[in-house]
This record gives sequence, structure tokens and C-alpha cells, in this order.
Amino acid sequence: MSPRFVPQTDVSNATVNGLAVVSINVVLEVNCPSGSVPIRRITKEQKIRAKASFRKHVRGSYPVNDGGPEGIATAQKTATVYHGAAGFITISNPTAGPGQFSASVISIEAGPPEQFGVIRIGWMVNMDLYMDNRTRLYTIWGQVINGEIHGCYNTYCSGFVHTNPRIPLDMVLEPVSVIRGQQYYVKLAVTQDKSTGNWLLWYGENGEQVGYWPSKIFINLKDGADVLRWGGMVDSSTPQVPQMGNGDNGEIHSSKVMRVALTYESQPSLNGTVDVPIEVWKTKCYKSGDNSYKGEYWGYSFYFGGEGGDVSRCSN
Ligand SMILES: *[C@@H]1O[C@H](CO)[C@@H](O)[C@H](O)[C@H]1NC(C)=O
Ligand SMILES: *[C@@H]1O[C@H](CO)[C@@H](O)[C@H](O)[C@H]1NC(C)=O
Ligand SMILES: *[C@@H]1O[C@H](CO)[C@@H](O)[C@H](O)[C@H]1NC(C)=O
Repeated sequence: MSPRFVPQTDVSNATVNGLAVVSINVVLEVNCPSGSVPIRRITKEQKIRAKASFRKHVRGSYPVNDGGPEGIATAQKTATVYHGAAGFITISNPTAGPGQFSASVISIEAGPPEQFGVIRIGWMVNMDLYMDNRTRLYTIWGQVINGEIHGCYNTYCSGFVHTNPRIPLDMVLEPVSVIRGQQYYVKLAVTQDKSTGNWLLWYGENGEQVGYWPSKIFINLKDGADVLRWGGMVDSSTPQVPQMGNGDNGEIHSSKVMRVALTYESQPSLNGTVDVPIEVWKTKCYKSGDNSYKGEYWGYSFYFGGEGGDVSRCSN
């Protein structure tokens, strides 16, 4: 079926940092027939490229920088065992060419490098994968077993169980935010179901469940996460690294994650807003920082992004 989307926007007229902000909620105009879910058709060749891109994406997320050109600017929390993470992520359309990707994500991680497990949700510009430079909703899951990385983007392998008949992964998120103008954001969350250990994906203004990752596909993530990260993630197979966020690196006009929220044992509800330490790699090309607490609704937010450029210029 050729999908038609209806972008729904909330009616709030809020401003953050003096800029108008609107939550977007793109969904299919017509639900898939009962018992079926929307899955984007991809070619065999795209699947092969997706696999290569997936490996880079997981490699780039190891807690140690392996010297590759990947960059990350995130807020990170590592203190206890987490069972959920959420945030409002501004939607933008960074320039990322062939061999590069640029993503804004919430990342849920567990285990030492030899058992590294990860779930990541957000949006990404990835021409190798999508054959276009649009901003698309995506997920990733990965699990290292015996030195091999298992997993994939979206539903390109078994793992993620898609259950929602009107929210496809891979869909284009628009409109995108305008630097110094109207800001659009998407509400995303992942929480772990206590009874099954499964991780559930929540999307959009109304917090609809999209699907879940069964706990059995993970090792350490079965019992919760030890690292949560929010922010920008880029990679490149060339000495040029792409834009991160919206390309701007200033506190007011760059990309944001707002209402950073997480859950752990003694804080079971996801509405908890927290102050999280900021971590930046490749500081000369990307920046991130505290955008301060903005009250009960907007919570704790931080900014991140940058122009990218020649990787030799980026390293500390
Ligand atoms: C929405 O915000 C704009 C700009 O801040 C303002 O001009 C307009 O009156 C507001 N509309 C409503 C319905 O509050
Ligand atoms: C995306 O691709 C189109 C068509 O090739 C181009 O006109 C546009 O500038 C590109 N956008 C970005 C952000 O790179
Ligand atoms: C968070 O959620 C709990 C219940 O789920 C509620 O009692 C509490 O008031 C909420 N806190 C805030 C700051 O919204």
C-alpha cells in the first residue's frame, strides 16, 4: 500500500527559549487492516547497506572512543539500574551525505563492551539507508554476543515486534524545525515492562505504543539499563563529519532534548525530570550543554549540535 500521512500538531502555543514549540504526531491516515502493521518495503540492496550502517551505529556507541570519526554529544546518566527513558526531541534536517549519518536519539545501554546491548530511538538522516536526505523516525537494537553484533535497524531482522497499525517506523518526520524560528519536536519514550522484562516503545503526542523488544533478545538489558543517553550521534566513513542536530551549536538556537525523563526502582514514574551530566566528543566540531530547568512541564533540557567538518579539526 502507498501510505498517506496526516501530520497532527498539538494546539499548545508554548514557547521555549523564546521560540514557538509544537509537538508533532505524524501517523497514517488510515490504519492498516486488523491484524497487520505498516512496514516499509526495502530492497535487498538497501538491506545490505542497512547492515553495514547498523554495525557502524553500534560501534559508534561504545562507551570508549575507538578513534573513529564518530561524534557524540549527549547528556548521560550512569548511577543505578534504569527501566525507562524519555524526552521531547526537536526535529531538524542536518546535512549528512553518502557514507555519513546524523541522528538525534535516546539511547538505552547495558553491559560491558563484550556484552554490550543497546536500544536506540529517534530520528536519523541516512542517505545510504534511505536513498534520500529526509529526517526519518528509526529504532535500533543491538547485542554483542561472542564478539559478534546482533540486531538491526527497525524491523530489518527479527527482534522488534511491531504492534501498532498506524505508526510506521522509517516514516518521514515533518515539518522540521527552522533555526531561529518555529520548533517542532516529537515525544518518544522507552520503558521496561516489569513483569516480562520487555522494552516498550512509545511515540507521539498521545504516547501510543508502537511495539516492543522482547527481553530474550538481550543479555544485560533483560534486567534493566546501566547507561541512558540523550543527544546527537553522527558517523562518517570519510574524513568529513556531518552536521549534528540542526547544525547550530549555540545554547538558544541549536537542537534540544527537552523534558529529559527516566525511571528506576525508587522512581517508577517516567515524569521524573533530572539534571544529567553532559558529555561531548569532538568538541571543536560539536557542542552540548545545559539548557536549564524549565519548570514542571518542560523539565530539564539540554542542547547539542554543530557544523561538523574536517575530522582532524574536530579532535581534542
Ligand atoms: C500564540 O503565540 C503567538 C506568538 O507568541 C501570539 O501572537 C498569539 O496570540 C498566540 N495565540 C494564542 C491563541 O494564544
Ligand atoms: C537534500 O537533497 C535535496 C535534493 O538532492 C537538496 O536539494 C537539499 O539541499 C538536501 N538537503 C540537505 C539538508 O542536505
Ligand atoms: C508523576 O506521576 C505521579 C504518578 O504517576 C504523580 O503522582 C506525580 O504527581 C507526578 N509528578 C509530576 C511532577 O508530574
